[in-house]
Order: sequence, then C-alpha cells, then structure tokens
Amino acid sequence: MYFIANWKMFGGLNSLNSLHKVLKFLKGFKKNKFVKIIYCPPSTLIRPMSKKLKNSQIKVGAQNCHENETYGAFTGSINPKMLKDVGAKYVIIGHSENRKLGETNKLINAKIRSALKSDLKVIFCIGETLQEKRKKITKKILRQQMKLGLRKINNSKNIIIAYEPVWSIGTGLIQKSSELSKTITFIKKENKKYKVLYGGSVNPKNINELRFVDNIDGFLIGGASQDSKKFIDIIKKTYN
Ligand code: PGA
Repeated sequence: MYFIANWKMFGGLNSLNSLHKVLKFLKGFKKNKFVKIIYCPPSTLIRPMSKKLKNSQIKVGAQNCHENETYGAFTGSINPKMLKDVGAKYVIIGHSENRKLGETNKLINAKIRSALKSDLKVIFCIGETLQEKRKKITKKILRQQMKLGLRKINNSKNIIIAYEPVWSIGTGLIQKSSELSKTITFIKKENKKYKVLYGGSVNPKNINELRFVDNIDGFLIGGASQDSKKFIDIIKKTYN
C-alpha cells in the first residue's frame, strides 16, 4: 500500500523534525515491508528532506513541475530534471488545486511525459468537481482526464493514479465506501495495470472504513500528513 504525504504550501526547515517519529515508527512496525511511503513537501524542502531520509525506505517527491525538459526562461518554474537533481523520485501532476489555476489536460499530458523522460515517477491526479458529480457525469470526466492526460503514454509501471474527488479535498466529506469501490474499479478497468490510490480528507477516523475499499492501492493524504501522529495512525489502522 502507498501512503503519499502531500504537504502542499506548508512547512519550513523545522517541519523536518517530525520525520523522526515516522522513521522510529517504521523501524518497529511489523508490516513495514508492505508499506511504501512518499513525502511530497514544498520544493524548498526537497533537498534537505531527501538528505534526512537517505538511508530510509521513505522516498521524496515534488508537487508539480514545468513541462520543459530543458532549462529555459520560465521565471518561477522548476523542470523535472531539476527536481531529480535535488533528490525527488516522484512528482504529483494534475492536482485539482493546479487544474483550478488553469492547468489543462493537454498541459498535464506534457508534464507527465517530461517527468517520465527525466526518470521521475508520476502521481497523476484525477477527480470530478461537485457540480460534475451532481450532473452525474463523474465517469465521463474521469475518462476524459485519463484519456487526455495519459495520451500516447504507455508506462503503467511509473505512473500511479490518484483519484481525488475535488469536493472531498480538505472538506472532511468522503464518499460512501461502496460508491468509492465502484469508482476505483471503474478507473482500474479503464487503465489496466495502473495502481490506483484515493485522496480527499483521509484521516485516522475514516481510514477504518476507507481501507476496505475494493482494489485500493493506497492513499494520498494532505492535511493529516502534516501531523506525523495522524499520518502514523493512518498507516497503522490500514493494517489493523
Ligand atoms: P486533504 O488533501 O487530505 O487535505 O483533503 C488531499 C490532497 O489534496 O491531495
């Protein structure tokens, strides 16, 4: 099972101290060989975090990247090679918080290709908005996001799909697990061989239900991942 921590725009150098607890927990955790943990901190923390986690089973990832493989005059942007250079092994692409700012399926596709070329693994986010859910077009939206986002890409080994309903992110609202099971199964049918995670308000309470979702390969965790105690609890309870 994957447990991916998305710290979003939170955290400074002192936040790295919280990793000690997680490392300590993993050492004593019997199931630890089944657990894949990836931390995606803000770009400013990728280097110091990967140094800290060098000899551990925890990998580090970025939260976004530019679509260019080479250097260029793009103020404020970072390309996949540069992320790799400072220790990132993964990158989140297509998060709804970036789609909201204008990131299109086409741009997401270009970013995924660029990241794969630079040897980064991709956490590809998809998900419907509340409006789309109400219109009952969730499947259509997901199918379109997957079709366009993964266009001309055949690399299921290095891409993990994260299903994150936009209305679930940071709101505390989650789908019934029966409904979620259906959606995860649908995504897996559309994209055989891909790992599929769930994200959106995952916390130590609702994990007791979420862990039973059929076919789930893990979780993308935002808010709760910034608190190492909650993050550890989520991992522990998944294997209860
Ligand atoms: P959340 O965020 O767990 O705070 O809802 C998840 C995400 O945005 O990846």
